[in-house]
Amino acid sequence: MKMTDNTILITGGASGIGLGLAEAFKKLGNVVIVAGRSKLKLENARAKGLETLTVDVGDQSSIEYFARAAVEKFPALNVVIHNAGIMQNEKLTTGKTSSIATSTVMTNLLGPIYLTNDLLPHLLKQKEAAIITVTSGLAYLPLMMTPTYCATKAAIHSYTESLRLQLKETSVEVKEIIPPYVATSLMGEELLQKRNAGMLAARKKEWDAL
Ligand SMILES: NC(=O)c1ccc[n+]([C@@H]2O[C@H](COP(=O)([O-])OP(=O)(O)OC[C@H]3O[C@@H](n4cnc5c(N)ncnc54)[C@H](OP(=O)(O)O)[C@@H]3O)[C@@H](O)[C@H]2O)c1
Repeated sequence: MKMTDNTILITGGASGIGLGLAEAFKKLGNVVIVAGRSKLKLENARAKGLETLTVDVGDQSSIEYFARAAVEKFPALNVVIHNAGIMQNEKLTTGKTSSIATSTVMTNLLGPIYLTNDLLPHLLKQKEAAIITVTSGLAYLPLMMTPTYCATKAAIHSYTESLRLQLKETSVEVKEIIPPYVATSLMGEELLQKRNAGMLAARKKEWDAL
């Protein structure tokens, strides 16, 4: 994939890993569009010079509308990064985890699949294009506390492999990003703050012991 002169759409690109990718790709000379639900996050991204669009990748009708609007507004769109994701704890023995399972599958698995289906006719017309999925090491070695999250990442990994083979003879490259652990608000802002505070306390303890 060329690293410059692309028009790149990043779902969930207004925070965390997606925002990091968005800023890096912008610096390299690409037009970058970030998409998500939170107005505030999108406003902050706009202030950084990124283009923004609203989408809920957990809602099929929102995706259809969004794909049409994205292509209409950015006809040079040639790269999509399926980065939006959610990760929630599920204690299966409570018998109360079905709604988490549904939203996790919708957002992490069906969202990228539907959006790929809706954008593919447009991407296939581009001279050079790419579809990039974002999975996780947890696709290969699951974390017991988040079973559906891990299952969706394993499924997206598998889907990526098939998509790559189906598009082998086309102008659309298929790639998979497998990020290492990054301290983001993926499991909620509160947990991130606690983790950061815990890390600071541990550092301070090390420092005091010197
Ligand atoms: N952090 C890690 O250690 C790690 C490791 C491996 C893989 N990953 C993967 O990296 C990706 C990015 O996660 P992150 O860690 O950067 O967390 P993050 O900061 O929470 O980013 C997730 C993004 O997804 C968006 N999103 C969630 N549900 C959405 C929906 N229904 N529709 C549209 N956008 C939605 C969120 O924006 P809105 O809430 O505004 O919609 C948010 O910007 C995820 O796919 C995650 O599984 C993360």
